[in-house]
Amino acid sequence: MKIPDIIIAVDGYSSTGKSSLAKKIARKFDFLYLDSGALYRGVTLFAQEERLISRLGKVSDALREALSGLDLHFDAEGRLCMGPRCIEQQIRTMEVSAQVSPVAAVPYVREWVDEKLHEFGRRGRIVMDGRDIGTAVFPNAELKIFMTASEQVRAQRRYDELVAKGETPLLEEVVQNLRERDYIDSHRETAPLRRATDAFELDNSDMTFEEELAWVQGLIQGKFGIL
Ligand code: DC
Repeated sequence: MKIPDIIIAVDGYSSTGKSSLAKKIARKFDFLYLDSGALYRGVTLFAQEERLISRLGKVSDALREALSGLDLHFDAEGRLCMGPRCIEQQIRTMEVSAQVSPVAAVPYVREWVDEKLHEFGRRGRIVMDGRDIGTAVFPNAELKIFMTASEQVRAQRRYDELVAKGETPLLEEVVQNLRERDYIDSHRETAPLRRATDAFELDNSDMTFEEELAWVQGLIQGKFGIL
């Protein structure tokens, strides 16, 4: 099935499986996959390493200036790199997850990331996942999907992911982190998390991955009239 050179925006709450679905769509239709959350995580790791964020999540004004010297990019395998260093593993830890939402709420951080996302997105044929792709970054994206799932299902998924990576989180800690991030992400002033009015909602609490894929495929066929 060949689909036009469009932009597909996949937004939604934390741990709803956005990246797994977006990656699969990209592979299936030969699109480029872009993980916008990775950039916010990269900026957070940078702020932590440069001591530009306090333990309580207060971001120093000096981060604005420091961002001009920050090189974040994706390598050929889609892993995030900071200069010559691959930071894909470090950005997925609980330490980064715990501070990424306050960093992502800073307007100049969002401007910095948006500029990069537009640069990457210029070529079309991309699937980008995040929180504000369909509402703010690419409001004209031709296909928008908004993902949700119950808190219990999402927390268990995130917990299993962390354990598989060798971390030893407490389930309660994971639930707390999801709640906090969802709250900050949906209540910030700049580009808060919300469903675009023209987005199709996918609640995958009780769906298998295969069912999700069939749902997306049906959506694409219906929308673009492709069989
Ligand atoms: O998708 P993720 O969990 O890796 O995203 C990490 C954080 O980055 C998320 O809690 C909020 C922020 N984010 C954002 O504000 N806007 C985006 N488009 C993507 C992520």
